[in-house]
Amino acid sequence: MNKDELKVETTTLWNFPTQNYGDKPHGDNKYRGVTPAFIIWNLLQRYTKRGDLVVDPMCGSGTTIDVAKELDRKVIGYDIVPYREDIIQNDSRSIPLEDNSVDFVFVDSPYSDNIKYSNHPACIGKISCEKEDFFDELEKVVKEIYRILKAGKVMTWLIGDHWRKKSGFIPVGFKLYQRLTKYFDTVDLVCVTRRHQSSNTPFWHERARKYNFYLRGFKHLFIMRKPKKI
Ligand SMILES: C[S@@+](CC[C@H](N)C(=O)[O-])C[C@H]1O[C@@H](n2cnc3c(N)ncnc32)[C@H](O)[C@@H]1O
Repeated sequence: MNKDELKVETTTLWNFPTQNYGDKPHGDNKYRGVTPAFIIWNLLQRYTKRGDLVVDPMCGSGTTIDVAKELDRKVIGYDIVPYREDIIQNDSRSIPLEDNSVDFVFVDSPYSDNIKYSNHPACIGKISCEKEDFFDELEKVVKEIYRILKAGKVMTWLIGDHWRKKSGFIPVGFKLYQRLTKYFDTVDLVCVTRRHQSSNTPFWHERARKYNFYLRGFKHLFIMRKPKKI
């Protein structure tokens, strides 16, 4: 997609054909679990202005850093295992920033233990979403984001649900959303079409019919605001 074709989304259904836009990479589209750069572009257009400080506490291959820089936002990207030199090593359950100091936060966290990001023992992607621990650990990240974000500012979180043969459907998005609403007000909920996932093969489509389950077709994008007054 050409950079000039980029438009701010007007509905709550987002469907992007490719991970990247323009002729420069944003993050690394070979990184497993990379975020479509359009999502971050859209969010920064709506909820930030030039010079604002944007933080991504789990920034993977650095998509948020690349998009934010291009739009003249200040940006800090952390990850438990930095993929590039401009990413700071940090566990997102304790973020080394002052209270009320950040203008916008984007998170695309692990959704369960389905992707091996690293061998780091503190990687939350080692915990299955079948366990309540997974949500307890994510809530620690939610709390930290609440602490560093300025009052009245927005944070957004991208996450997908799961279906497991043993446990059936796990509403990962709604379970996280419950935790988010303990701290934040809801601005809106967006559905992002899932594309290019590893289960998008004839083999998996056939299994979905045979064993009567659905392949995940979308991810949740929660847009939340830190209340002005508590
Ligand atoms: C879905 S990926 C992020 C993808 C990223 N937005 C991109 O576009 O490349 C989730 C990331 O969370 C990181 N992560 C997992 N546990 C973490 C923790 N405790 N603290 C910080 N990062 C963590 C993983 O290393 C992984 O890079």
